[in-house]
Amino acid sequence: QTLEMELEAIEKSGHDHFMHKEIFEQPISIADCMRGRLNAEKGELTLGGIRNYAKALENAERIIIIACGTSWHAGLVAEYVFEDLCRIPVEVEYASEFRYRNPVIKEGDIVIAISQSGETADTLAAIELAKSKGAIVLGVVNTVGSSISRVSHEGAYLHAGPEIGVASTKAFTAQLTVLYMIALKAAFNKGTIAENRFREHLRELSLIPAKVEKALKTNDKIEEISDLFKNASNFLYLGRGYNFPVALEGALKLKEISYIHAEGYPAAEMKHGPIALIDENMPVVVIATRDSSYDKVVSNIQEVKARKGVVIAIVTEGDSLIPGMADFTIEVPATHESLMPLVSVIPLQLLSYHIAVMRGANVDQPRNLAKSVTVE
Ligand code: G6P
Repeated sequence: QTLEMELEAIEKSGHDHFMHKEIFEQPISIADCMRGRLNAEKGELTLGGIRNYAKALENAERIIIIACGTSWHAGLVAEYVFEDLCRIPVEVEYASEFRYRNPVIKEGDIVIAISQSGETADTLAAIELAKSKGAIVLGVVNTVGSSISRVSHEGAYLHAGPEIGVASTKAFTAQLTVLYMIALKAAFNKGTIAENRFREHLRELSLIPAKVEKALKTNDKIEEISDLFKNASNFLYLGRGYNFPVALEGALKLKEISYIHAEGYPAAEMKHGPIALIDENMPVVVIATRDSSYDKVVSNIQEVKARKGVVIAIVTEGDSLIPGMADFTIEVPATHESLMPLVSVIPLQLLSYHIAVMRGANVDQPRNLAKSVTVE
């Protein structure tokens, strides 16, 4: 027992929890994920794992993404990225739904399976079904040699290193990075983005580790905010566009480790339901970074404030409008809007972490949850 505890302390390398370590590792894990693949100066992007089926991906009539949990949220971001860059229609499915609903799959359809562990039973079964109908399966997996990596036709590993905390953090940002690289490469080869735009995206992607590092500096402020909200019984998370899946992911993180009920919603859908819940006891986390839906999200903040909701806003550095409206603002560095989830998710990971610690919850092994769900 003591030896085990000592070993664990070494593995945590000074951090109180694996989740804390993994959150703070992200500048490195994202860089590791791009290492040997992306060269922004030369304008090169190589994905050795997707070679034989690269043309099939470029020419695909549609892409189906299957995953569960946090990996499914990464899939939602990827949907927007692939459609925008590659102009290929994308569907994102929960593996557990896909496998039981007689889906339409055609020979040559591309299925992208996303899984940190590579062992999730539902995802594995969905892959087998897709393969039996002639689909080409590309795996986006962290665990080398895992079942999903073996049954996929080809794929790209995350290279994020082992993730121990049950609530996924660094795997999520690595999944986004890999999916982004896959989409960018396909778009360039296909000709749906011009070389200068391709290079610009590569440059912006290569700056992400430093921006994530900066976003982690919000830690102390988030700890203070966490103390004020640790006893809340509900949270609402709102985001739009690329930040909508981030709202879902923020809410999931809070549920998983702090056991506070939280819901993520596309900001514009608030008026179709969640707005009824808003009063002075409802903290609303709004991801309101500068992007094409900024003005609309600002209106949503005003709607929440008009109903006395408490707004915690994630904003782009230098935003001078939202601090005058929101109760709390957390600044993250600016980046291209399609890459913003890599940065905007960081404060939400920290918020859930600190609230869970303050509530005395078992952060790394939350009740009833497993790191890898190998049963259906
Ligand atoms: C479990 C984990 C989640 C994870 C999900 C999918 O629920 O607790 O963190 O997102 O499974 O796992 P996968 O390994 O397939 O990404």
